[in-house]
Amino acid sequence: MDNIIINEVGPRDGLQNINKVLSVDERLMLIRSLEETGIESIEIGSFVSHKAVPAMTNTGELINKLRNIDKYSVLIPNKKGLDKAKIHRVKEICTVLCVTDSMNRKNINQTVNETLNDLKSILGDSSKNGIRTKCYVSVAFHCPYEGKVDSTYVEDIVGQLLDYKVDEVVIADTIGAANPKEVSTLMTSLRSAYKEAVFSCHFHDTQALGLANVYSSLEAGINKFDSCIGGLGGCPFAPNSSGNLATEDLVGMLELMNITTGINLDKLLVAREVASELTNLALKGRMY
Ligand code: HMG
Ligand code: MG
Repeated sequence: MDNIIINEVGPRDGLQNINKVLSVDERLMLIRSLEETGIESIEIGSFVSHKAVPAMTNTGELINKLRNIDKYSVLIPNKKGLDKAKIHRVKEICTVLCVTDSMNRKNINQTVNETLNDLKSILGDSSKNGIRTKCYVSVAFHCPYEGKVDSTYVEDIVGQLLDYKVDEVVIADTIGAANPKEVSTLMTSLRSAYKEAVFSCHFHDTQALGLANVYSSLEAGINKFDSCIGGLGGCPFAPNSSGNLATEDLVGMLELMNITTGINLDKLLVAREVASELTNLALKGRMY
């Protein structure tokens, strides 16, 4: 494995769960500092209810100020989000399905089946409009309400999403409870069951197992990962969720392993400073 794609989720996952609500210009400043690092893919925000996630208000205004829309994705929870994505000519959307009813209800007020039904038309409509689609398969290992999630059940859900022609499936450890053995089991069986599918992984670093889980996924043949500058992040609706795996830790580890990312670590540390100043938070990554 010599070329890894990193998708930076700081401007969305990183900012959605902190007390301070950044202005559009501050969010823009963070995105610009990340672009300077050479990172190719950035999730810049979400179109969700401003009552549910105040920090993501005005994502449309933010998009209007961005230069290179091809590099960005936006998270959408429903059809209304897709309509906004179309208006703003978003090239890639990230839908989200929490695989347990309790967590999905907390996150987007639907059962798993209701979301699957809606995703069928959202994913179809997106591809008709030339929008690339991803779907987060959240709480794929452990749910804060229902405990351990069965891997064969997750495989079946992934199969349905692939039947709906999603372009990429993002396996997400929302509360950072997975261990490398569980990651190896699920990612190996998904890769073997769905050979043509594009998979990526999204790890939260609650137990400091994010890098170990990345290594496990690399061994299972995964070459695309989400991470977040400064280890910010967390889902506001998942108790015990904490920050994402820090981008600087991920890039640092891959560099030590002589794996190319195209990202400049020094510039990433500058972006980390920008994130720290904007959020007024003590950040979590260790590679600085
Ligand atoms: P609801 O109350 O069932 O929906 O919420 P509703 O249709 O009744 O709408 C409620 C209000 O939201 C209405 O406004 C709608 O217009 C508005 P009001 O009439 O009250 O003024 N609304 C919207 N506004 C903007 N954009 C939209 C939209 N849809 C409705 N797309 C809803 C359902 C999905 C809206 C709500 O639950 C919600 O917004 N949830 C946000 C969930 C979220 O952002 N979670 C965090 C991201 S997921 C995550 O972090 C996990 C991830 O990182 C991977 C991992 O780690 O596992 C991706
Ligand atoms: Mg997340």
